[in-house]
Amino acid sequence: MKPILPGAAIGVLGSGQLGRMFAIAARQMGYRVHTFSSETDTPTGQVADVEIAASYDDLDAVRRFAQAVQVVTFEFENVPAACVEAAAAFVPVRPGGAALHITQNRLREKTFLVSNGFPTTKFAAVHGVDDLNAAMEKVGYPAIMKTASSGYDGKGQAKVANLEDAVQAFHGCGGQEMIVEGFVDFELEFSMVMARGVDGQFVHWGAIQNRHKHHILDVSFAPARMGQASSARAIEVSRALADKLDLIGVLCIEFFLTRNGEILVNELAPRPHNSGHLTIDASRTSQFEQQLRAVCGLPLGSTEFVGAAAMANLLGDLWYAGEPNWPAACALPDVKLHLYGKIEPRPGRKMGHLTALAATAESAAQIVLLARENLQPVRKPS
Ligand SMILES: Nc1ncnc2c1ncn2[C@@H]1O[C@H](COP(=O)(O)OP(=O)(O)O)[C@@H](O)[C@H]1O
Ligand SMILES: [Mg+2]
Repeated sequence: MKPILPGAAIGVLGSGQLGRMFAIAARQMGYRVHTFSSETDTPTGQVADVEIAASYDDLDAVRRFAQAVQVVTFEFENVPAACVEAAAAFVPVRPGGAALHITQNRLREKTFLVSNGFPTTKFAAVHGVDDLNAAMEKVGYPAIMKTASSGYDGKGQAKVANLEDAVQAFHGCGGQEMIVEGFVDFELEFSMVMARGVDGQFVHWGAIQNRHKHHILDVSFAPARMGQASSARAIEVSRALADKLDLIGVLCIEFFLTRNGEILVNELAPRPHNSGHLTIDASRTSQFEQQLRAVCGLPLGSTEFVGAAAMANLLGDLWYAGEPNWPAACALPDVKLHLYGKIEPRPGRKMGHLTALAATAESAAQIVLLARENLQPVRKPS
């Protein structure tokens, strides 16, 4: 298959920060970028060549978008299947519809994992309130309930301690299809970000450790603080999963490391991932450039790290007391600031991130947290 060469136009479904960082990588290598979503002046649109605002259900608009590009990828996995099919009638959509279909629904995803022998959390499906009792018996308490589709950053999730909580959580989510998972009292969380090329070439950045706050990623650092055996097993699972999905592009697998050293797959994202943002500053090839190379059929780049690194997310909450003190964070020489061009800093909304490089992951984490602390606006005495 002939590679798609610089100068070509690439279509991105979705228009958030992942599309923005992809578009920056693509433009650096001389590609053009068209983005499609329902909004304008988006994080991706601000740096793309063409920004199309239309509904994902407007299939004529999707067809026009696809006809103007050489390949379509996505940065948002909740794109309706019909939209992907409409685009795929004209150009390759990478990763393909199968990876997207499996990962759009947590029940489908977990069923896929179990039926292919990949280690994951105990789970049960809940289609109606009558399923709750049996589901809870299967996974035990405490449990985590999640909406089967369209949840992200901990949205549509609840930790439940008894049947009463579970019934309430089910109704609280509007009675839609849910998954119940056994609560994993993990040692730590980590992710594997990887890329697979058109010819099956496989690369990864090793285990990246993640810390969440209120179910939202807060800090990531690499390399993860875990034993060689668990990390080797995670790499083995990652390669097997990427092959099984016949993936072309970037995939992130979120894992739990249990207290007895076992690894469990938490969830999959068939696209660059928040935990991989540190690869922009810390690796020879970022996850976004790798996505570009993979979807264009180019050889993949080196994933070697130039140093240990840590990334801290900047949520809208940081704006509570006023505009963050950007110069104070920039004053630390090993810290890089990334902002996504979002206008409205809502609580919990990912507005940007900071990355720090250092000799060890621990010191990088300390520096990045200090830098974020320094962002707090100086309060004027009243
Ligand atoms: N079964 C579980 N046991 C323990 N913690 C969990 C479980 N499921 C989710 N969590 C916590 O919530 C976070 C977000 O959940 P996740 O399933 O990854 O959804 P999202 O799509 O919102 O990232 C996880 O990274 C983890 O910290
Ligand atoms: Mg997650």
